[in-house]
This record gives sequence, structure tokens and C-alpha cells, in this order.
Amino acid sequence: MNAIVENILERRSIRKYKPKQVRRGDLDLILEAGLYAPCAGGRQGVIMVACQSREINAELGKINRSFFHGRMSASAACISKEQPSIADDPAITDGLYGAPTVITLFGVKNFLYAAADCCVAAENIMLAAHSLGIGSCMIMRAEDTFETVFGKRLQKKWGVDEHHQAKAFVVLGYAATEPPKAKPRKENRIKVVG
Ligand SMILES: Cc1cc2nc3c(=O)[nH]c(=O)nc-3n(C[C@H](O)[C@H](O)[C@H](O)COP(=O)(O)O)c2cc1C
Repeated sequence: MNAIVENILERRSIRKYKPKQVRRGDLDLILEAGLYAPCAGGRQGVIMVACQSREINAELGKINRSFFHGRMSASAACISKEQPSIADDPAITDGLYGAPTVITLFGVKNFLYAAADCCVAAENIMLAAHSLGIGSCMIMRAEDTFETVFGKRLQKKWGVDEHHQAKAFVVLGYAATEPPKAKPRKENRIKVVG
């Protein structure tokens, strides 16, 4: 199979990480993949901050978890048996799953396509990571997390101006267990018309 498509089909969300940190060279390549994502109007407004501080990431994870108030899954089935999410297991106290590297994606504040820009950059990041043997998971509640006193201080400390707003996280690290298989795809979601 085409190697790019194979990489896309194989990637899964990872929520159990080894403590080992992501290598700097790999991280640089992953972030570069994010920089080359499509962006609305060619604006290149997304700012990515990769944090490798365990203390800061743990605090962000705790705050992020505090903003989760219920299930997101459309069915009663769990999101992942092998890699449980906070929706599956209320005992998980870190919304960022203890991942050694946390990338926060900031979009241009009040720009209609800011979230979309961050999401396509996130996908580039996750696919690049997977191609390098690095697990990832996209995580929401970034606006809420950075609206807190801790978040606002951190954004300032990181030198991200107030015209940018956190829209998404991608966490990265080495999978602690064998990655899960993809769930079967739901039917009738594709139409080719002519
Ligand atoms: C927009 C978006 C938001 C997501 N938010 C979270 C999240 O907050 N926490 C989490 O554990 N996973 C989150 N995920 C990961 C999904 O749960 C995951 O992609 C889905 O269950 C399918 O699994 P797969 O990525 O292994 O194919 C998010 C994914 C997307 C696309």
C-alpha cells in the first residue's frame, strides 16, 4: 500500500505513555510538519508551543481534566478499551495523560477559521509523529485551560500574544503498550456521485 495512506490508516490515539521524552530532532520534524499544514487564507496564524516540562504539563493536565463534565461518546460503548480516555475512566486525573510532550496550538483570536487551522495542523503533527514511531492524541478544552490564571500566565511566559487563543492540544510520547486496532468503520459514510 502507498506508505502515506498506510500511515494514515495505522495511526491511533495513544493515552498510555512511557516516561521517556521525545527526541528533540524528531520533535523538530513533527513541528515542521505542523507548519506546512493548510491554513485558511494562507494566513499562517497558528502558533505551536511544545512543552517538555513534566511539572507544567501535569498542571495543564489537571486543569484540563477539571473542565470535563461528561461523556462525549455518541454511544454507550467506550471510546477505547485499550487506551481509555477520561470519558471512559473517571479515575484518570490528568486530561493530558501524563504524556512527556504537550503541544498547544494557538489560533488567531476571533478568526472564523482559527479552530480549523489548528485542527489541520494537529493532524499533520499526529501523522508525522506516527511515521516516526511516536504516539499522539488530540485533546480539547484548550480555551478553558488557558482561560485560567495559570493558563494566562503561561501563555504570557511562553511569549504568545493575547491576539492568539489556545484551540487544541496534541500530546506526544512513546506508547507504553501495543497500540490498539482501529474500530470497524461505520457504514454509509461515503458517497461518490457523478
Ligand atoms: C476534535 C477532536 C477532539 C478530541 N478530544 C479528545 C479529548 O479531549 N480527549 C481524548 O482522550 N481524546 C480526544 N480525541 C481523540 C478521539 O477520542 C479519537 O480520535 C477517537 O476516539 C478515534 O480513535 P483513533 O484516533 O484511535 O482513531 C479527540 C479527537 C478529535 C478529532
